[in-house]
Formats: sequence, structure tokens, C-alpha cells
Amino acid sequence: MSVFITFEGGEGTGKTTLIKNIFQALRSSRPIVTTREPGGSLIAEAIRDVVLNPKYEGVTPHAEALLIAAARAQHLHEVILPALAEGKTVLCDRYLDSSLAYQAYARELGVPFILNINKLAVENMPDLTFYIDLDPKVGMDRISHRAKYDRLDQETDDFHLLVREGYLKVAAMYPERIVIINGNQPLENITEEVLTAIREQS
Ligand code: TYD
Repeated sequence: MSVFITFEGGEGTGKTTLIKNIFQALRSSRPIVTTREPGGSLIAEAIRDVVLNPKYEGVTPHAEALLIAAARAQHLHEVILPALAEGKTVLCDRYLDSSLAYQAYARELGVPFILNINKLAVENMPDLTFYIDLDPKVGMDRISHRAKYDRLDQETDDFHLLVREGYLKVAAMYPERIVIINGNQPLENITEEVLTAIREQS
């Protein structure tokens, strides 16, 4: 049976390592793939570069949201929907909820605009979403050693606070789907919590 699972959170919440752990733990018991947004396919990764590379500093908030929605349309068609049709479990690093937290709330474009331009994603929502909740100050400290900050990492502290507030509003919008995980605990504990929830669900 196919299952579509997404992982959400601000910067430095450890999602990437978490997804690797979950993949390793489940791969022997079910067909499973991992992917990410923006990106996940050749064309979507090209769009990702335009959205995140600091050299494109003039991208407007509306263009940012539309480019990410375009990357998502491509990624859904090329990667997510085919994998689900083959009965796979799909673990996706970020999805529509990122656009709601970052573009609808933090960029203040509003929820209706984001839902409108992401109609395809709205029609293909995840079965389960883990939102890793963490004080953005802690998250930004964790990634401060990284050499290459992307254009969104470089946003102000206030922006990252708005992202977190946005995520909490999104989690309240979709309580049946979104599980809030305390990100301020060892990754092993987070991995266990997530694995338990996935095994209960599917
Ligand atoms: P990524 O390297 O995946 O960040 P992280 O390691 O923190 O997950 O970069 C993705 C960036 O793109 C991140 O700053 C959030 C942003 N983003 C949006 O603003 N809206 C979206 O819909 C998506 C999918 C990502």
C-alpha cells in the first residue's frame, strides 16, 4: 500500500538526517523512496537553483512562490505520483506546508494565493506529515558552521520566527495529518517517535 509522508521544519532541524534514518529503518520491510523539495527531479532541481542560489537576489516573493509551485508540479508528475502508483512509501523532505509557512505566512502572500497556485499539490496531499518544531535561534546556530548559506537561510531572524509561527498555524489547520515533534531532543528519540507513528499508520 502506498503512503505519502512529508517532513517539515525550519532551518537546522535535522530533517535530512532524520529522513535517512527512517529510510534505513524501513527499507527492508517495504518499497520506499526519498525525495525533496524544491527539487527531486532534473527540471525541479534546476528551478531550485534559481530559487535558492544567493546570486539571484532579486527574486520577488510572488516569483519565488510560483517557481516553487512549478518545481512541485514537475516533481509530483515525475517522481511522487509514479512512486505512489507503484505502491511505494514516499518520504519527501518538504512539500506544500513549506510554501504555506514560508510564502503564505512569512512572506505574507496569504494562504488563498498559495493554495490557488498549488492546486495540484492540494489534490495530492500527504497521508502523514511530521513537523519538527524548534526555536529558530537554535536551528540557525546549528547550521552556522555550514559554508554555503542559501538565499532563504540568509533571511533575518524575524523571518525565521514568522516561519515557525506559520508552521504552527498550518499544523492547526491540518491536525489530522500533521504530527508536531519537539525538535529540541536527541535525533535518536525523534527517529523513534517518527517510526512509531509511521508503523501505527501503515
Ligand atoms: P533546504 O536546503 O532543503 O533547507 P533545509 O535543509 O533547511 O530543509 O532548502 C530549502 C529551502 O527552501 C528552505 O529555506 C525552505 C525553502 N522552501 C520554501 O520557502 N518554500 C517551499 O515550498 C519549499 C519546498 C522550500
